Amino acid sequence: MELTRHFIHLTVLLLVLLSISVATSRDTITPSHPLNEPETLSSNNGMFHLGFFTPTNYSYLGIWYMSNTPVVWVANRDQPIKNSSSALLQISEDGNLVIMDNANSNGILVWSTSLSNISSNTTAQLLNTGNLVLQENTTGRILWQSFQHPTNTLLQKMELSTNKFTGKKVKLTSWRTPQDPSMGEFSLSLERLSMPEEFVWKGVQPYWRSGPWNGVTFLGIPGNNINNLDGFYLDRSYDDNGTYYLSFNFANQSLLLICVLTDDGNINDYYWDYVKKNWSIAWIAINSECDVYGKCGASGICDRTSEPICSCLPGFEPMNSSEWNRQNWSSGCIRKKALQCEDNGFVMLENSKTADFAVWSSPTEYDCRTQCIRNCSCEAYAYDAGIGCMLWAGSLIDIQRFSTGGTDLYIRVPNSDSGKKKNTVTVIIAVTVTVGVIVLVSCIFILWKRTSRKDVDRANSESQGRVQKNELLELSQFEFERLAIATNNFHLNNKLGQGGFGPVYKGTLEDGQEIAVKRLSRASGQGQEEFMNEVLVISKLQHRNLVRLLGCYIAERYSNSFLLNFNAISDPSKQVLSWEKRFAIIEGIARGLLYLHRDSRLRIIHRDLKLSNILLDGELNAKISDFGMAKIFCHTEDEANTRRVVGTFGYMSPEYVMEGLFSEKSDVFSFGVLILEIVSKRKNASFYEDAESLSLIGFAWKLWNDDKIAGLIDAEIGNVSSVADIMRCIHIGLLCVQELARDRPTMTAVISMLNSETVNLAPPKQPAFMHRQTMLDTDSSSHRTRSDGSHSINYLSLTNMQGR
Ligand SMILES: *[C@@H]1O[C@H](CO)[C@@H](O)[C@H](O)[C@H]1NC(C)=O
Ligand SMILES: *[C@@H]1O[C@H](CO)[C@@H](O)[C@H](O)[C@H]1NC(C)=O
Ligand SMILES: *[C@@H]1O[C@H](CO)[C@@H](O)[C@H](O)[C@H]1NC(C)=O
Ligand SMILES: *[C@@H]1O[C@H](CO)[C@@H](O)[C@H](O)[C@H]1NC(C)=O
Ligand SMILES: *[C@@H]1O[C@H](CO)[C@@H](O)[C@H](O)[C@H]1NC(C)=O
Ligand SMILES: *[C@@H]1O[C@H](CO)[C@@H](O)[C@H](O)[C@H]1NC(C)=O
Ligand SMILES: *[C@@H]1O[C@H](CO)[C@@H](O)[C@H](O)[C@H]1NC(C)=O
Ligand SMILES: *[C@@H]1O[C@H](CO)[C@@H](O)[C@H](O)[C@H]1NC(C)=O
Ligand SMILES: *[C@@H]1O[C@H](CO)[C@@H](O)[C@H](O)[C@H]1NC(C)=O
Ligand SMILES: *[C@@H]1O[C@H](CO)[C@@H](O)[C@H](O)[C@H]1NC(C)=O
Ligand SMILES: *[C@@H]1O[C@H](CO)[C@@H](O)[C@H](O)[C@H]1NC(C)=O
Repeated sequence: MELTRHFIHLTVLLLVLLSISVATSRDTITPSHPLNEPETLSSNNGMFHLGFFTPTNYSYLGIWYMSNTPVVWVANRDQPIKNSSSALLQISEDGNLVIMDNANSNGILVWSTSLSNISSNTTAQLLNTGNLVLQENTTGRILWQSFQHPTNTLLQKMELSTNKFTGKKVKLTSWRTPQDPSMGEFSLSLERLSMPEEFVWKGVQPYWRSGPWNGVTFLGIPGNNINNLDGFYLDRSYDDNGTYYLSFNFANQSLLLICVLTDDGNINDYYWDYVKKNWSIAWIAINSECDVYGKCGASGICDRTSEPICSCLPGFEPMNSSEWNRQNWSSGCIRKKALQCEDNGFVMLENSKTADFAVWSSPTEYDCRTQCIRNCSCEAYAYDAGIGCMLWAGSLIDIQRFSTGGTDLYIRVPNSDSGKKKNTVTVIIAVTVTVGVIVLVSCIFILWKRTSRKDVDRANSESQGRVQKNELLELSQFEFERLAIATNNFHLNNKLGQGGFGPVYKGTLEDGQEIAVKRLSRASGQGQEEFMNEVLVISKLQHRNLVRLLGCYIAERYSNSFLLNFNAISDPSKQVLSWEKRFAIIEGIARGLLYLHRDSRLRIIHRDLKLSNILLDGELNAKISDFGMAKIFCHTEDEANTRRVVGTFGYMSPEYVMEGLFSEKSDVFSFGVLILEIVSKRKNASFYEDAESLSLIGFAWKLWNDDKIAGLIDAEIGNVSSVADIMRCIHIGLLCVQELARDRPTMTAVISMLNSETVNLAPPKQPAFMHRQTMLDTDSSSHRTRSDGSHSINYLSLTNMQGR
């Protein structure tokens, strides 16, 4: 990072500062050694200094960074001293740290730490972090610290906090003016503790909000900035005292940052520029009018790039058009048509800063929309993997649209606004079976088209269009008739399978290209997000072991409602797959996964790898499909946490089921289950046979330990010559399903294990989910329910898993 490039300069600077401080300064005040102007205390590392300063007519005791830079803490901000040469910082007889004004030698108490009943044996010390602490001399116990009484600056390791039960807050308060440190009107604190976020208050009115913290970033602060750096975090305390903390502590200690609440209510983050030897701006909270809380009033949406900046949400109109047209947004927007309980249409606003006053409802996504529909007062919902499902009732305030970042916000609209189209929209995906190509028909595109008709929805359509236009218009579009002909009018005989999402058909285009067609309707609602996710993920990928997006088509006339899903291609001929074919399938899946994890432009965790998501083409080449659950990672992330545990039970790793942690290693786990299933032709999630109610994993582990692992092999494989290979595969499978994610191999390692007979495999450790009972316990909270209410624990036996 730019900021941290000048490590050597820092060292030199520190040495210089140290040599100065050693010569001239101490860091401690004892009862016998008070501090007089012009003396200063300096922290041991020379970074911080404490002393009296006089910005204008009055003097204050403050702490400042480096030599000439901003004052980061002020003791007596509301008790100024007229003449600092008569002021004294000392330990009083009762042990408190006090400022005395000895003008005319009457010793007036100006400021005190005001602790009662403390040991009088205390010392005050300026620590290397910039924290001034009052300690019990004998025990070293900290009685008081400046970090608990901040002024307008947040330093590294300092904590802003709010207690959920007591309401006690440690917050920043601005200076009155740049030269006057007395209490200003702005404060910065943590609020909305069910989904904590930063708030700047102007008096008692909110002035700016960060949007909720999702564990990585604030939803209302888009882009790469200091708030997204590793080291910036917001946490609830683990002491069960209900305290939430915001802090930053960068691993790279050469990165010096301060966060200042300015006298005009902005937040400025400064970093130390080692070249300029001065502070430079790293980030500013309020860059445009849109950042000011509730700029566009209730149910308005602010977009800094549009002119005018405010518009009404879809389905809303200005409360007072004459005011609105004069760009007085304060009275906001109201619904054109009151929402009815049965209204269940939604319009998606991409890249949004979500509205204030969200109600947290559940950690999972699949029922977020349902929960909103069920509750008559629900106006909107949004889902973020790091937060869960957010619902809104009442007015939607402080929504903003970004060009990147933010989250998808779904605004509930009357059926009449969406209903007409609802029955007429059919969305279809087609996948070529023989050449592994998909044809997509996208509902996203429809949304874009529809909303663009309405002026009030202009903003919406722009945001919708941003992704879809760019990404989907690149795809060739298929005419509905062409697909209908290809699939013999979606004839039942052409149905490849029925996933929870809906039917998949096989078809043949006029040029002989074989395709699979997936259908989706708006009416099914639930899977739409997964579908969009899938469209976007697939459109970015291209690999021989993944299905590929070929094109899309939008049909507005088809009234049947279907959601789409891939399914394993099945064939009634029930030909038994030989070991060679099974091995090729395993290897193909492994290569596809490796591509997802390592080689693609994006880094993707599939999260729902299972047998029924593997398509086979005519040559029985495996294609990983269904990216509805896939998660795109930054290349630097290794692991993410989600409160939304989705996936298919029986394939999900323990850390994912229990803690919502997913990583490449969760896919590896699913892959291990797949290997065992393919080898044994038994299903992990429904393996009852053994008296001990073991899962397939548990059964395999038992056989392994009893040295009878050959017993796992599907009897139909027959060919004894390859037993060693099969055993090796089982061994790899067991390595993949080990309890601890760190013990499981990466896909790179798996590929080399699969391909090399010489590599010695480590003995597997005990796997997770040995017992079926354990799995059932977690099942209820972790299955993925499709829109039609079915679980996606569908399974196609290996006899069915083959091409035509
Ligand atoms: C820490 O900062 C130094 C100097 O800027 C830089 O060279 C180094 O790469 C940084 N370390 C890390 C882990 O980012
Ligand atoms: C400082 O004192 C001068 C003269 O008394 C006065 O005019 C000025 O307003 C004061 N400045 C502040 C910031 O109080
Ligand atoms: C401040 O106090 C010192 C001694 O206590 C005195 O010499 C000086 O004149 C005073 N300055 C002002 C401006 O009153
Ligand atoms: C003061 O502290 C002593 C022990 O430290 C304790 O016994 C006493 O009750 C305290 N008094 C008050 C008023 O808190
Ligand atoms: C302060 O501590 C010293 C020992 O550290 C002890 O002898 C002395 O009595 C203490 N004074 C008070 C007032 O507690
Ligand atoms: C306690 O204070 C005395 C002086 O008042 C000092 O000599 C001694 O080192 C201090 N003890 C501790 C543990 O700080
Ligand atoms: C939590 O609260 C308990 C009881 O009020 C207190 O003893 C404990 O010190 C608190 N923990 C922290 C870390 O504040
Ligand atoms: C540091 O930067 C500030 C503005 O950010 C400027 O006012 C000040 O003069 C600079 N100081 C030095 C020593 O360059
Ligand atoms: C709109 O606002 C203007 C001035 O603010 C006011 O005169 C007018 O009555 C308002 N119209 C309505 C319908 O409230
Ligand atoms: C905007 O309208 C409100 C009434 O809705 C009014 O109180 C306020 O003064 C108006 N602001 C401006 C700048 O006209
Ligand atoms: C409906 O939702 C609102 C806000 O989300 C919530 O306060 C209210 O309790 C809900 N009502 C029911 C019946 O769930």
